[in-house]
Amino acid sequence: MTAVATELALQRCIESDCGAQYGLNEQLYVCRHCSGLLEIENESKVAADPEALRHLWQSRLASPDERDRSGVWRYRELLPFSDGAPIVSLAEGNTPLYDAPRAARYSGLNALKLKHQGCNPTGSFKDTGMTTAVTQARILGARTVVCASTGNTAASLAAYAARAGLKCAILVPRGQVSHAKLAQSLDYGGIVLEIDGNFDDAMRIIRELAEDESIYLVNSINPFRIEGQKTVAAELLQQCAWQVPDHVVVPGGNLGNSAAFGKGFKELLELGVIDHLPRLQVVQAEGAAPFAELFARREQDSTADDFSENLIPVKHPQTLATAIKIGAPVSWQKALRAVKETGGRVSTVSEQEIADAKAIIGRDGIGCEPASATTVAGIKRLVNDGVIDRGENVVAVLTGHLLKDADYIIKYHQDSLYTHDRASNRSKEERRIDGTFSNAPARVKATKAAIIQHLESHDERHHIEDGSFD
Ligand code: F0G
Repeated sequence: MTAVATELALQRCIESDCGAQYGLNEQLYVCRHCSGLLEIENESKVAADPEALRHLWQSRLASPDERDRSGVWRYRELLPFSDGAPIVSLAEGNTPLYDAPRAARYSGLNALKLKHQGCNPTGSFKDTGMTTAVTQARILGARTVVCASTGNTAASLAAYAARAGLKCAILVPRGQVSHAKLAQSLDYGGIVLEIDGNFDDAMRIIRELAEDESIYLVNSINPFRIEGQKTVAAELLQQCAWQVPDHVVVPGGNLGNSAAFGKGFKELLELGVIDHLPRLQVVQAEGAAPFAELFARREQDSTADDFSENLIPVKHPQTLATAIKIGAPVSWQKALRAVKETGGRVSTVSEQEIADAKAIIGRDGIGCEPASATTVAGIKRLVNDGVIDRGENVVAVLTGHLLKDADYIIKYHQDSLYTHDRASNRSKEERRIDGTFSNAPARVKATKAAIIQHLESHDERHHIEDGSFD
């Protein structure tokens, strides 16, 4: 078959009036000329035969080769690495695509599929990009790898650095990372540095640190992260038998994931593997929605060119979905391009909507962390607004595992989940999230009769009938 040669790959500045090129092994994160974001370009992609590629990727599902056991490296024709690259892998990817009938009904759709990236080795989609970024760290001979994180990138980096035998330092906002994510980073041996400040502060400091060449930064500003993450587009489409969904819906935080899906879909289109693009729908939490605000402003001014208007950071982002509590997303230009090219939108959802959607995803026996539930909450809004038609083919991407934030869940089900916006004058009661679909544990007497009586009354109280979500 005509495989894609990757020797011609390079790093290129995405700013259209710059476009500076750099070698793959130049250690930099933004353009030296204009500080624009960089992305990796494979110049010879058009040489590939799409039918042969689809066949090759399918055949690898039955291959014992370690690279083929990974849902990232299985698509290595799309990656800028040579055959002998010193791969650092935990058999990432390979995540399920579930039917979610309850979540479909809840959001007003006939059917809905959930791509559960929380089923990755460390419980989030970050692993698909960390395998490539840490592999690149090895190629560059880095000794220390670093990131700023709201918790999942940290856990993922700590695991992959441990596999690679690299020193790993992680900057997190103190008191704003879930216990489970912190626990993972500690157990994997990461050096966890808690700072007074939010994620955006941590990101700023880590970028300063990475000016030192002995330190390799693996946040999604690093284009090698995006390369791994983009393969999820291929895995998803393969699971859909290459039938392109109408909409793919993702949560938006630092916007690396949106950028990666956009790049993945576009490259598959250029290769001829698919014949059109799905619409990329990005959903943010209301209190941390600078990208949605930018999108809304641009919608009002249809004459605006690509990046003529800058994203205005949110100074004090607020959301209980701590994974996406981000006010100055790094990859907004790439994400905006992806949304525009695919004809998608950027929307917002409230804390209550996130919490309820999360509980419904749980009722499908699937579950996810709060940030991931923005997708189903967002779909419900988009169906309501007539942007998504109830018969359309929709995939929501769940980015993190349910167990990533158990505290949130317990509080929701016990009607004791409160938002944190202390700056406003809202009373505690006004800040309470209703446990609309709560399922609190019950204290019962340790007798058979008491338990049977409870089960019978529970049936009456807790039946969520089909279609009763309105
Ligand atoms: N969902 C989860 C579970 C996340 O952990 C993140 C980001 C996102 C969604 C948003 O993805 O940033 O690519 O737009 N978490 C980062 C972290 C910031 O540090 O773990 P994005």
